[in-house]
Amino acid sequence: MSALEAVAMPVRYMGTKRYLAADVRTAIESVTPSGSVVDLFSGIGAVASALSPDHHVITNDALSFTTVLARARFCRGRRTEFAHLLPSIRLRYREREQELETAHESVLARESVALKADWKTLATFMANYPHVGISSDARCMARICAVADTREKYSLATLYFAAGYFSVRQSIQIDSLRYAIDQEAPCSVDWDWMIAAWLSAAATVMNAPGHTAQYLRVSGELSQTRVRRAWSRDIWAVFTDRIIDMTQEGTQKWREGNMSCNADALKIISSDALDGVGVVYADPPYTKDHYSRYYHVYETLYRYDYPASTGAGRYRNDRFVTDFSVKTKVQSAFEALASGVRARGIPLVLSYPDNGLLSLAGVNLLDLLTSHFTSVTLKSRPHSHSTLGASGGEQKKRAVENIYVCS
Ligand SMILES: C[S@@+](CC[C@H](N)C(=O)[O-])C[C@H]1O[C@@H](n2cnc3c(N)ncnc32)[C@H](O)[C@@H]1O
Repeated sequence: MSALEAVAMPVRYMGTKRYLAADVRTAIESVTPSGSVVDLFSGIGAVASALSPDHHVITNDALSFTTVLARARFCRGRRTEFAHLLPSIRLRYREREQELETAHESVLARESVALKADWKTLATFMANYPHVGISSDARCMARICAVADTREKYSLATLYFAAGYFSVRQSIQIDSLRYAIDQEAPCSVDWDWMIAAWLSAAATVMNAPGHTAQYLRVSGELSQTRVRRAWSRDIWAVFTDRIIDMTQEGTQKWREGNMSCNADALKIISSDALDGVGVVYADPPYTKDHYSRYYHVYETLYRYDYPASTGAGRYRNDRFVTDFSVKTKVQSAFEALASGVRARGIPLVLSYPDNGLLSLAGVNLLDLLTSHFTSVTLKSRPHSHSTLGASGGEQKKRAVENIYVCS
């Protein structure tokens, strides 16, 4: 497959540069980089994917779940044949599933009744389910599971996200599959692959609008049908499809030269990770929406760390916040980015729309970059951004996307 051919994305992602990846690649090549490309805000890796197999990449993002997607697709190692892993994974999966089904027998029965009843019954079931966001019993259980070194540890989705983002039955399946993967794929290459497919399966069935800031509630017959449809999907069946889709991209040689990091972009630019790098590509967030809020379900599933969590949305309390998404701080974040990369003597390629938060803060990005670099060129093209309905707005917003090449 050629690098720019469509590769299935593991999760739907706001602000993905999939549509712009070919232009970004051209901009990167215009500075003839003599080392790897660092993708500082790599998200789900649309640009890294477009750079294969010709330019080695170091992906980086503040959200840790993105790193397992990157490792599974872009990094080194030979996978075991899935046919060899499948029987033992399925066995472990069924073991834990049966255990959890027995433990949650009565709530599963109530869920089954609610799914067949009128929309109000389903809405009431969803509102009253005792998850960690509202129930002290669930929080107490989460504290116990967090330190368990037995199978009891595998109950996170059921305690955090059931009867909302997933049905109770699906949450049990998600926990059971995580247990099976942790037990049967301890080698890192297989574990990354399976966990990436597990997250992608969760994304596929999730009762949410693409991002996970909140789940879809039931307020009438139409939403009842949507929730029923989402909740009827079987995690195991979707997982076995995603395992096949989650291919290793590029060539083995290309993957051997790649790396994946999980750090604040403003910290990593002064670290060893940039030693010998040929060019920095930056695609910072451009709205006041913090990605950690919109993708918290994946983050908590991936980390499986039973975080403190409150409210109906069940957000983790330690969400990462970035100055790039704060109007009063966005200018200093850009200044730090430009001066940090400039200090390393590395060219910078940056994509940012004309209606980004920086312009709302009254700052001209071209002027800002020109004050740090001797040469800045700009290429613009119109584009519709996918917002996935963030901030309750439209699904698509028209904008001009700018690519700045600074050297
Ligand atoms: C516009 S998206 C990038 C999309 C990516 N280019 C793609 O095609 O998938 C911005 C990304 O920056 C990440 N992010 C936000 N602030 C960050 C920071 N200070 N350091 C590192 N990553 C950050 C977000 O988690 C998000 O994935």
